[in-house]
Amino acid sequence: MANAVEIDAVSKTFKLYHERGTSLKERLVKAGRSRYDELKALQSISFDVAEGETIGILGRNGSGKSTLLKCICGVLQPSEGEIRVRGKLAGLLELGAGFQPELSGRDNIYLNGSMLGLTRKEIDDVFDDIVGFAELESFIDNQVKFYSSGMYVRLGFAVAVNVDPDILVIDEVLAVGDEKFQRKCIARIKQFQEMGRTIIFVSHSADQVRSICDRAVVLQTGEMIGMGTPGDAVRLFRERLLEADGAPPAEEAAPEVEPGQQGDRFLLRIREVFTSVSEGESPVLESGDPFSVTAVFRVKEEIDSMVFVIEVHGAKGELLLRTDTNELGMATDAPLGEGRVTFEFPSWPLSDGRYDISVGAQSRLGETTYDWRENVVSVEVVYHGKASGLLNLPLSASLTAGGPIVRKKL
Ligand SMILES: Nc1ncnc2c1ncn2[C@@H]1O[C@H](COP(=O)(O)OP(=O)(O)OP(=O)(O)O)[C@@H](O)[C@H]1O
Ligand SMILES: [Mg+2]
Repeated sequence: MANAVEIDAVSKTFKLYHERGTSLKERLVKAGRSRYDELKALQSISFDVAEGETIGILGRNGSGKSTLLKCICGVLQPSEGEIRVRGKLAGLLELGAGFQPELSGRDNIYLNGSMLGLTRKEIDDVFDDIVGFAELESFIDNQVKFYSSGMYVRLGFAVAVNVDPDILVIDEVLAVGDEKFQRKCIARIKQFQEMGRTIIFVSHSADQVRSICDRAVVLQTGEMIGMGTPGDAVRLFRERLLEADGAPPAEEAAPEVEPGQQGDRFLLRIREVFTSVSEGESPVLESGDPFSVTAVFRVKEEIDSMVFVIEVHGAKGELLLRTDTNELGMATDAPLGEGRVTFEFPSWPLSDGRYDISVGAQSRLGETTYDWRENVVSVEVVYHGKASGLLNLPLSASLTAGGPIVRKKL
């Protein structure tokens, strides 16, 4: 299959200028010294995006995601390397990029459309669809500087998807819209995928990346540290987040460090995770049977207000369940020393398939992750019933014959 986008050894360096010396003396003193620092926002990034593929880009704040998208859209020129794009590209960059604040929504639609290569007539034809999709009928003649951030995003997304691009580039803007609009955007993105279009998509949401993307790239301080399946990319991204917070990657996890041993510098480590199935005789679970997941952990120092989190993902990476010990009514202080937490499902009401389970320890509000084990265990489920679909809900049917049939007289 042909490539829609080829990114070949792309680097982008920004020059950060120092404040200029104001007096002659200052300028003389500074003469000969560099007037700027260089910031390497992207360092030799290379990857190809095949036609019809959806690529996710994951990375912390400042890792270069938006810079990369701007280079792909041609808003910025790479300092080195080359980007080749085949087809018409529409981008939804950072909030408000591409809009003229003094102009109305209507004029901005025409301006944006013409920048994307549409004639006035072509824009006339899609104008109502854009306004309708953005739900901005009553505001379309207002200057966009009076729009809320959600309204900006709605307009930007509506323009990008209605100009019929071959390649859609979306920066992390979906997070701004409300939930209903987000769902509408995701539905539109999926429709795009079915039409065989190419999408490049920045998101902080691991679940969005998993459910939408075919592959994902992980950026860290301007370098591409990995590219792979969404599951692998999310795992790498989360591990690196933990490292940055002072914990080692999961592979070096604590099992080697015995309780009380020197060198265990972490507040809390999840040492092992197992399930009732992995402990039992058969490696598969019968749908509807009880199931449990246990994490063995060690808490080194007192932590106020922490929770253990469990997530269950389906085979396509879709999130089926996420909850934590606080939501399940348990106390939120971590017991010091060695302990274990067990999540018990009295019945596992899911149909055939493989389910991946992640376990983590976080502060109650989720700002700090003490430890996280992505897809640490999985369970294979067999279902012997006849119903199809994902769920195996307890269900019965009844049918009554011969009862009174009430007909309403006309
Ligand atoms: N125009 C610019 N001039 C100077 N530095 C810039 C410019 N644009 C971005 N940078 C810097 O480049 C680095 C990468 O920024 P970028 O916006 O690409 O990150 P990001 O991954 O999109 O982050 P976020 O998740 O916060 O959106 C940052 O250190 C940023 O400060
Ligand atoms: Mg950004």
